[in-house]
Amino acid sequence: MSDADHMTARAGTVQTYRTIGALREFLAAKRGADVTVGLVPTMGYLHEGHQQLIERAGAECDVVVTTVFVNPLQFAEHEDLDSYPRDPEGDCLKAGAAGSTVMFVPAPEEMYPDGADAVATTVSVAGFGSGMEGASRPTHLAGVCTVVAKLFNIVGPCRAYFGEKDYQQLASITAMVEDLSFPVQVVGCETSREPDGLARSSRNAYLSAEERQVAPVLHEALCLGARLVIEGETDPVVVREGMAGLIGDAPLCELDYVEVVDGVTLQPVTSADATSRLFGAMRLGRARLIDNIAVSEVAGAPSDGATRRTGPLLLSGEEQGRATVPADPPRPRRARPAGGRIGRRRSLRGRSGCHRGRHAHGSDHQGGPR
Ligand code: PAJ
Repeated sequence: MSDADHMTARAGTVQTYRTIGALREFLAAKRGADVTVGLVPTMGYLHEGHQQLIERAGAECDVVVTTVFVNPLQFAEHEDLDSYPRDPEGDCLKAGAAGSTVMFVPAPEEMYPDGADAVATTVSVAGFGSGMEGASRPTHLAGVCTVVAKLFNIVGPCRAYFGEKDYQQLASITAMVEDLSFPVQVVGCETSREPDGLARSSRNAYLSAEERQVAPVLHEALCLGARLVIEGETDPVVVREGMAGLIGDAPLCELDYVEVVDGVTLQPVTSADATSRLFGAMRLGRARLIDNIAVSEVAGAPSDGATRRTGPLLLSGEEQGRATVPADPPRPRRARPAGGRIGRRRSLRGRSGCHRGRHAHGSDHQGGPR
């Protein structure tokens, strides 16, 4: 394996494979009866959240493959595919430092030889992908599931690590693996946060200093919603109002959605409780930020056995970044989406104190990831 076109390595960085064939050859040579392979799919511009996934994979697997591919299939035409932040050299160093054995960094033509537009076979997961991100970005989750299915087929049997930060993505991939019998064990990892609570994200690089200051309001809103539920509020409309109000009052922030859903099915609830999960998305300058928390993660929540928590979320300083502990990946259930858009516009439209965001203008697409 010495074809310089197919793999590259530099001092201090991990070996990088650029073709499917070369990566498969490497893995075939490594695989043995007791060898476990860990896969960490990413779009690069690695940060501590990604590194946490790689570290966990390294602790649990013999070989760790970190993939970096900015997947055109999961970006809509008006989105930031071309400007998505990229740092190939930094990614190699960070992945290596976190314990990755190799990188897989394919060019778009390697993954989609005839172009992403020509891909005829896609994977869409009903249910988890219909609301929230599925509603705001109707083709996004199918694009994600399709590229992840390809990566699973390229890498073969493995443990695959995904962040709870993108919880609908995690849920959809978990369902896909079960439904299509991929020989893959999905491992969900807790959301890595900055000390002020902001979920780490490659897109945080878009934030100006002023925007960065206000960005933690998304996490604060979710924590406020969780506290309302813990204090006895069961009406999801009231909880959504509280969360939307906080974001709406914050300067520069444009609310996309806030939602209260069942922690397993991810469908909107009619009565909120400790098993609920809270989601939010907002625009801040060039960035679109998303986040979510389980009500049970927040101090004072009764333990329901469905999720685990070790401490309060609303801490200050460094402690905050360590406060959450992941639930097991959500198990797929056969709940179908209620059809089309879920309740946020009903609840947010026309209420004072809410910055309505772009969906206040009406729906131009149907629910469902594709
Ligand atoms: P990307 O946004 O690069 O994220 C790669 C992985 O890192 C995902 O599993 C994501 O959930 C996880 N991650 C990102 N920020 C995190 C944080 N703050 N804490 C914990 N985990 C975090 O998600 C994607 O890329 C793509 O959709 C991908 C799955 C690679 C398919 O293209």
